[in-house]
Amino acid sequence: MRVIIQDNYEKMCVWAARYIASKINGHRENRPFVLGLPTGSSPLGVYAELIRMNRSGQVSFANVVTFNMDEYVGLPHEHDQSYWYFMHKNFFDQLTDIRKENIHILNGMAPDPEAECEAYEKAIASFGGVDLFLGGIGVDGHLAFNEPFTSLTSRTGVRNLTTDTRIVNSRFFGNDPEKVPTQALSVGIGTVMDSKEVLILISGHAKARALARSVEGSVSQRWTCSALQMHNGAILACDEAACGELTVDTYKYFLDIEKDQRL
Ligand code: GLP
Repeated sequence: MRVIIQDNYEKMCVWAARYIASKINGHRENRPFVLGLPTGSSPLGVYAELIRMNRSGQVSFANVVTFNMDEYVGLPHEHDQSYWYFMHKNFFDQLTDIRKENIHILNGMAPDPEAECEAYEKAIASFGGVDLFLGGIGVDGHLAFNEPFTSLTSRTGVRNLTTDTRIVNSRFFGNDPEKVPTQALSVGIGTVMDSKEVLILISGHAKARALARSVEGSVSQRWTCSALQMHNGAILACDEAACGELTVDTYKYFLDIEKDQRL
């Protein structure tokens, strides 16, 4: 596992966007580049930088296929808190050359959610799997909507949201946890683990415990992000604030070994 530490959120986002663009630009296979994408506040700076790079001709999305991590159950596309709405507003609609047919987002209104999730796994496989999965984590270490105690081999499926997550996410629903959907569709930890590379954004004091458990703790379903210790191409991109609960030797180790990556 690599841990890239930057001074602040802005630099973390610039580093991550450059990394993603370099992977897209370096893709030489005779098939599209498959990019997994998250929502939340963490990726906003990365999306802004990728949009800037796309508009200035530094990266093209013409040959990129995307799969989003998750979606709330019961929110239609036009709901301003659906992840479909979030992704189009904050990313896809601002890119110059992404093809609409290359965008995949789980449908939280699907009449048969299980079938929707099964079809999603098949769609990912039909493109040869995910090349790079970008993600964030929750304060409890959840990856996508894989809450604590979700199996580390889970596949795309329906997830019940914990009260903690609904409280944290209520900031987008008028601070009323009752308005946050109780379920979501989400790729599984196993789905993310099958990606060639995984890049997770972790910023701010609130995520410090989750980062420490993911890097220094045991691999455990209690902190689903810790599964990435078993992934050969996992990168955690962090800011200084998120490193607050790492031990000093861990922190110094990654600063040393990744010193060329510091912006
Ligand atoms: C939600 C999403 C996750 C995301 C997490 C953290 O629960 N399902 O994919 O990583 O929030 O969000 P934020 O980046 O806003 O802290």
